[in-house]
Amino acid sequence: AEIVIVPDAAAGGAIVADEIARLIRGNPAAVLGLATGSTPLPVYDALPARLSGVDLSRVRGFALDEYVGIDPSHPESYRSVIAREVVQPLGLDPARIRVPDGSLEGIEHAGDDYERAIGEAGGVDLQILGIGTDGHIGFNEPGSSFASLTRVKTLTEQTRQDNARFFDSIDDVPRHCITQGLGTILRARHLVLLAFGAGKAAAVASAVEGPLTASLPGSAIQLHPHATVVIDEAAASDLA
Ligand code: F6R
Repeated sequence: AEIVIVPDAAAGGAIVADEIARLIRGNPAAVLGLATGSTPLPVYDALPARLSGVDLSRVRGFALDEYVGIDPSHPESYRSVIAREVVQPLGLDPARIRVPDGSLEGIEHAGDDYERAIGEAGGVDLQILGIGTDGHIGFNEPGSSFASLTRVKTLTEQTRQDNARFFDSIDDVPRHCITQGLGTILRARHLVLLAFGAGKAAAVASAVEGPLTASLPGSAIQLHPHATVVIDEAAASDLA
């Protein structure tokens, strides 16, 4: 992967937003892969200024993941987060932005439906990724196959603790998710992984330099011919 070390998260967000703006100016029907969590927020904050006046009516987006069994109208469902942070500020067409369907009804075919939708859109051009402290990308927790496609997974206790800040208590954090697989993510044409802060240093080192193993799901990015890793000094501190 190409490593870009930035002074802080705002600078990282600006660089990635520049890249996304370049992509959309060159291809007004670009397909974006959207991540949630805290890490991509500086990217989303930087996008509107770079895209003002640009026709975004044909842009498509696919979120990485969603909680299973959460009410879609819950403010922390990833459907709500993507609407609030990306779709509304940019004025994207909500019908062209998809999030995996985490409702219990029909969950057995939600993964296949999502894969089909990504395929019909022609695949993802640029996939934004964060990384969990346990090394997950999307919600592909340790033990995820490199060939995996969108499916239901169980969140680790570590991830539930990490995400408890978004909920009233840890008991409210869902136990299951539906996530693009590592195989799905690897099909995107450009991967852009962001990580900021010392808490991500070990996960970043495992992704960039670790052995290729399902125990370190982020290591899958080493298989991708066009991966960019945008990190601050603290997140880079465990690199050789
Ligand atoms: C979110 C996702 C996760 C997060 C990861 C880091 O869609 O797929 O892999 O990117 O849990 O979360 P933050 O950015 O909140 O530290």
